[in-house]
Amino acid sequence: MNGTKVTADALRAMKGRGGKIAALTAYDYPMAKLLDEAGVALLLVGDSLGMVVLGYPDTTHVTMADMEHHVRAAARARPRALLGADLPYRSFETPREALRNARRLVAAGAEAVKAEGGCRIRRQVCAIVDAGIPYLGHLGMLPQSVREEGGYRIKGRTEEQRQALLADAAALAEAGSFAIVLELVTPVVAAEITRQVPVPTIGIGSGPECDGQILVTHDLLGTFPWFTPRFVTPRLNAAEQMRAAVRQWMADL
Ligand code: KIV
Repeated sequence: MNGTKVTADALRAMKGRGGKIAALTAYDYPMAKLLDEAGVALLLVGDSLGMVVLGYPDTTHVTMADMEHHVRAAARARPRALLGADLPYRSFETPREALRNARRLVAAGAEAVKAEGGCRIRRQVCAIVDAGIPYLGHLGMLPQSVREEGGYRIKGRTEEQRQALLADAAALAEAGSFAIVLELVTPVVAAEITRQVPVPTIGIGSGPECDGQILVTHDLLGTFPWFTPRFVTPRLNAAEQMRAAVRQWMADL
């Protein structure tokens, strides 16, 4: 990507062009700025901030106020990357509520919003897209459903799940999503969705054949070492380097 501002349309147009879309989470000013300087195309203020920043056990505790606070911080970096933000747990129960909260995130500085779900939230997606707000879909394992589902489970293992995922992806593309995140979908089904939908898929733990990949930045850099998903190979052990630097500083006091 060159130095021009990344838009949702530009990301959508990357489908089929050969290059992979690189996306990472950012929850504050320095991280958004650093990742942007590295050339990431999509920055997401994900509700994963509930675990890796706020210390909650899962994303269901994250509020709109939490999201607005972190979106404002990341937006101050004025990234070239598209800045997306998550609609948190139960903030998009109806089309009206989804649109109201999407507008709050945009007012805080988000340039696109994401919510978890497919056909079930089609009317919410249409309300957001019709209002001119770029929308990023999210299918597969949906972290906001962790309590109902009793854990984080890989999706696409049964024929029923495969068909539901394909139908959900088609519905999101038709409703106007500019891309779709596929989380913990079996690689075979993720590849099938990628071939079938006209918008880019951005995988996380869903194999190599998606149009792009997204990770929680803390997993990639090793800044949340107490839990690392199995599909992530950390590229830095920042936690150990931080501990060592602090010990060295203390020893020199
Ligand atoms: O909340 C999040 O960080 C996410 C991505 C990792 C897909 O939804």
